[in-house]
Amino acid sequence: MKEALVERLKEEIRYEFSREGPPEGFPKFPDIPAGRYREEGFFDLEMKHLWTKVWLYANRQEELPEPGSYQLWDYLHTPVVIVRDEEGLLHAFYNTTPSGKYYVEPHDDSGLYGERVFEEGYETKQRFQTQDEFPRRSLSDGVLKDPDTGQVYDLKGQPLSPTTGGDSLRELRCEVWDGWVFINQDLNAEPLLEWMHPLPEQMEMFQGEKLRLINKRRTIIPCNWKVTVEAFQEVYHFKHIHQKAGVSGLDQRGATMGVLPNGHSRMITPLSKRAAEMSGMEDQLDWSKDIMRALSSTQVSEVPVPGMEDIETVNGMTRCTSTAFSAFPNLVTPVAATGLPFLLAWPIDVRTTLFEWVTFCTDWGDGPSPVTDEAWQMRLNGFDSVMEEDTRNMAPMQKSLDSPGLVGMPTSYQERRIWNCAEQVDRMIGPEKIREDLRVPQLLGPYIDRSSS
Ligand SMILES: [Fe+2]
Repeated sequence: MKEALVERLKEEIRYEFSREGPPEGFPKFPDIPAGRYREEGFFDLEMKHLWTKVWLYANRQEELPEPGSYQLWDYLHTPVVIVRDEEGLLHAFYNTTPSGKYYVEPHDDSGLYGERVFEEGYETKQRFQTQDEFPRRSLSDGVLKDPDTGQVYDLKGQPLSPTTGGDSLRELRCEVWDGWVFINQDLNAEPLLEWMHPLPEQMEMFQGEKLRLINKRRTIIPCNWKVTVEAFQEVYHFKHIHQKAGVSGLDQRGATMGVLPNGHSRMITPLSKRAAEMSGMEDQLDWSKDIMRALSSTQVSEVPVPGMEDIETVNGMTRCTSTAFSAFPNLVTPVAATGLPFLLAWPIDVRTTLFEWVTFCTDWGDGPSPVTDEAWQMRLNGFDSVMEEDTRNMAPMQKSLDSPGLVGMPTSYQERRIWNCAEQVDRMIGPEKIREDLRVPQLLGPYIDRSSS
């Protein structure tokens, strides 16, 4: 991230603190139609035209270290196998044979999952599944095989016995951004890095290439996937939801929202006055201190914890604010100088979402994963509590969206990241395919930040 952008964001925060209403001329959004969150018809349009055409996070490149390494991906009712070939390139194939079997049989990984249960604050218990171990797997004989026909395919998906005929395996697009592997069912989609622009430039400072997967947690939430994603796109909830947790040290009045192309976005929220003072900052916009390092060294230990090394290239703004990026449609990442989680929302049906948060940290080397270290347990459990608070509201939100009394969801200037997503949903489906009363007008065009870094 260039210094000029950091300065501009600082200016934007000053403006946010000073303003008494939305900026002059900023469009007033109509309510977002509730039907978008509860109608099967709209969900079907999303499944058909959005999820099949968009870049989606799949896994990490270091999980497939050598030729023949593979990982399975099974979301959106679409089983996929990702394979590394002899030249080191990754390929993604549909993992279903013409007769409905698998080329690569899924594993019973239930033994890898643990469970955390939260009871407080809930009508029913909230359960999180946890996973700390991520087996690296290799294809036996280095080939993919159709169990019915016996046809064998090489790591590029080409049939190996041409005499029996047969096509190559059906492939999806598979590309890598700084070590994060993404797939896309649309063979004509624009390249991943172009689609993600400007996130790769602005997140370059995290040196994603060197990061490593350490932990995954997941839970099922009875709400539409957009309820989950949108909960991370506004700041109003900070005050009432995160009051007890560490995040209450933020000042949402100063938050600045960046609406980026393709439905992506960015949010920078300054620390509260008190938190800034306690951290030794001269004021809320003094980004010269490394408060994150100061905090972790007093709370945990003086020696660096494996996997929690400081990423030196991370800028002062990230260290002295709450900074988060969103990649359309389902990825949110609240970043830090020691790594970052991806929060991912996967639709199961119109009212059910699989929500995951996957943590990436600095590489701890050849030894065993440090995930059981006290410092790591504190950090992951602390983040779980924040996620518990964030997810608590989602089922009740869906309940009100399901009520016939609610026709639409009001959205304000401060919530324009949500509107940005809604516009992108419609652009991907094609507005002409959407019933008029479910469409949102395209209003944010002039406000999209198209500068690069
Ligand atoms: Fe939150």
